[in-house]
Amino acid sequence: MSERKKITLPALFKKVANKEPITMLTCYDYPTAHFQEQAGIDMILVGDSLGMTMLGYETTLPVTMDDMIRHAQAVRRGSPNAWLIGDMPYMSYQPSIETAIRSAGRFMAEAACDAIKLEGGAEMADRMAAIVASGIPAMGHLGLTPQSASALGGFRVQGKGALQAKKIIDDAKALEHAGAFAILLEMVPDRLCKLITERAENCFIISLGSGLDAHGQLLIYHDAFGLYPRFKPRMAKVFANAGEMIQNGLIQYVKEVSERTFPTSENWFGMPDDEYDELLKLL
Ligand code: KIV
Repeated sequence: MSERKKITLPALFKKVANKEPITMLTCYDYPTAHFQEQAGIDMILVGDSLGMTMLGYETTLPVTMDDMIRHAQAVRRGSPNAWLIGDMPYMSYQPSIETAIRSAGRFMAEAACDAIKLEGGAEMADRMAAIVASGIPAMGHLGLTPQSASALGGFRVQGKGALQAKKIIDDAKALEHAGAFAILLEMVPDRLCKLITERAENCFIISLGSGLDAHGQLLIYHDAFGLYPRFKPRMAKVFANAGEMIQNGLIQYVKEVSERTFPTSENWFGMPDDEYDELLKLL
């Protein structure tokens, strides 16, 4: 694929107006960002899920701002044109409005992100509004919010009951009024996602395991390409099992080195006979 134009916020809203689904994946490293750029992905989220997918933690909670910045910089180098979103890690915005603005600013200044994402509803609307007022586009995240998994009772569907569903609708409006350009709905029922999408006026809705009616779809890259060894969530489809291919390749590598069938002369460098003879004389 040839060089494409930089994705902008007006370009994303134009897709929404034209009823074209927005494509979004998580990404954490340079080569994957390059592949995603070549595939024409609209939006890339450098998610704090990197704590689990890249760093092997059990949850996202240990991830720091420095971890996020390092990975976001690598992703930006691999994908100069996608709309790049830095995910605010645990405690980088919860303590205060000032902490939130400073953390969001780091994504923009140090990693050339286009926007940030933070988890939470009405209770985080003041952080969202302050970040937006600082000139930084911000995305909300409702439903299953992994940083609050303990309080939510684990990694489970949110908003199945009418009261909880109503709260998620109210939270979405609060974030929209605070200036969110988009809201991610993670693991909410499809009918709830549809209601929220229909009510969105100044922002668009992205679904992660929340059905087809949102303005766009997000998957965690490692789930979609068989790269997370612990489990595959139901909401993810495996589009190509890269994990299996890599595992088979590794087994083959160990076998060929052990059996001395790798390397062969194609994989090493020779020396002219006369130079070699001269070398032997020098020894
Ligand atoms: O960190 C992340 O990748 C996320 C997804 C779960 C949406 O926030």
